[in-house]
Amino acid sequence: MAIAEDKDLNAFKDSQEEVVIDTTRKLRVAFIGCGWIAGSHVKSFMKQPDVEIVAGADLVPGKAKAFFEKYGVEGVKTDYKDHKELLDDESLNLDAVTICTYNRQHAEPAIYALKKGVHVLLEKPFTVTLDEAIAVMKAEKESGKILSIGFQPRLDENMKMIKKIVDSGVLGQIYYIQTGGGRRRGIPTPFGTTFITDETAGIGALGDIGCYSLDMVLNAIGYPKPLTVSGYKSNFFGTDPNYSNYVKIGHPEYAKAFQVDDFAAAFVRLEGGIILDFRIAWAMNMDTPGDTIILGTKGGLRIPSTECWNGTVGGAMKLYHEVCGEQTETVIPIIEDKSGMGLFEKKVRSFCDAIKNGGTAPVPSSQILYNQAIIDGIAKSAELGREIEVVIPEI
Ligand SMILES: NC(=O)c1ccc[n+]([C@@H]2O[C@H](COP(=O)([O-])OP(=O)(O)OC[C@H]3O[C@@H](n4cnc5c(N)ncnc54)[C@H](O)[C@@H]3O)[C@@H](O)[C@H]2O)c1
Repeated sequence: MAIAEDKDLNAFKDSQEEVVIDTTRKLRVAFIGCGWIAGSHVKSFMKQPDVEIVAGADLVPGKAKAFFEKYGVEGVKTDYKDHKELLDDESLNLDAVTICTYNRQHAEPAIYALKKGVHVLLEKPFTVTLDEAIAVMKAEKESGKILSIGFQPRLDENMKMIKKIVDSGVLGQIYYIQTGGGRRRGIPTPFGTTFITDETAGIGALGDIGCYSLDMVLNAIGYPKPLTVSGYKSNFFGTDPNYSNYVKIGHPEYAKAFQVDDFAAAFVRLEGGIILDFRIAWAMNMDTPGDTIILGTKGGLRIPSTECWNGTVGGAMKLYHEVCGEQTETVIPIIEDKSGMGLFEKKVRSFCDAIKNGGTAPVPSSQILYNQAIIDGIAKSAELGREIEVVIPEI
């Protein structure tokens, strides 16, 4: 009897937490880049009752038109050759753009959009270089518009739990973090070479999935500033025409197109005396380069890696601590998401809410700047073959 009552109470509580969206004011949204990930964006924007998708541009002629037809979005203007033409079209009266272009085309469209006074949801990684991130943030500051970076794993309840654990103080003073992840054979080439050429991607596994590993722990500990980086990167798998996945998909020539990293590792010193030990792989002869661990003076947290690294929590976390002088482990089971919303939907909804309610960016550039500074530092240090100091200019 008592259990039934509790269930009723929970059902009542859930219904009370339903969010009411003001549909009287529709946000006019455009897409820049209509490739693979834009598909997840369009499905999520279409679910928002207060959003009107009004335009889309892609560098490939006809791609934007075909994209919106595929997803059944009607009345979308697509006769633009690039982001500039779209953003110059004042008849669109845009509120926001979602930028789903490859990495090398993150900074320029974001700056152009912000200068036009349009809110920006920008896919991850923030940019390719630290200098680009600084330039985007200058435009953001001048515009006063919202710029949110597309780190949807952060909106997962289990990821939020990591932050809650750190904030609770149960780990004590944190001094060492090991993070990263990897795939055994996972160079992303399902739709061509935009992830692997320098002209389009600029960075490989380091930026693509490394940014998630960094965000998982840096967000939890409050994004301390990186001070020094000693980095390494390699490309043994991507440049090999016999790489088994190229052979399987019948594209050994991708080996010649491959100009980025497929593995990276680093030793990073963070403000507050914290050491960050990082490794990431699109391909390696190993199942995982290890779980994420956070060591503190009072407790340690183990966060299992996902098998195919996607930046989220791969299983029940374990807290190692002492109770009354005895070594104890507390298991933190995976939290089921009861919201009925996928992570992309949450990313899009939180962006729209920030615009409508005058709030701050759900994933602010001021945090991801440090993520980018580490990625940039690893790339530079790896090229120089020595440790470097991380210098972040004023914005
Ligand atoms: N958040 C996630 O889970 C997630 C997943 C996959 C990819 N991504 C990120 O999304 C971005 C895009 O990845 P993708 O897989 O969709 O790539 P993609 O190559 O499939 O699509 C990118 C599209 O952008 C277009 N484009 C490039 N510059 C443009 C410009 N200036 N104006 C208009 N169109 C332009 C290209 O022609 C291409 O069609 C990457 O930065 C990637 O890291 C994020």
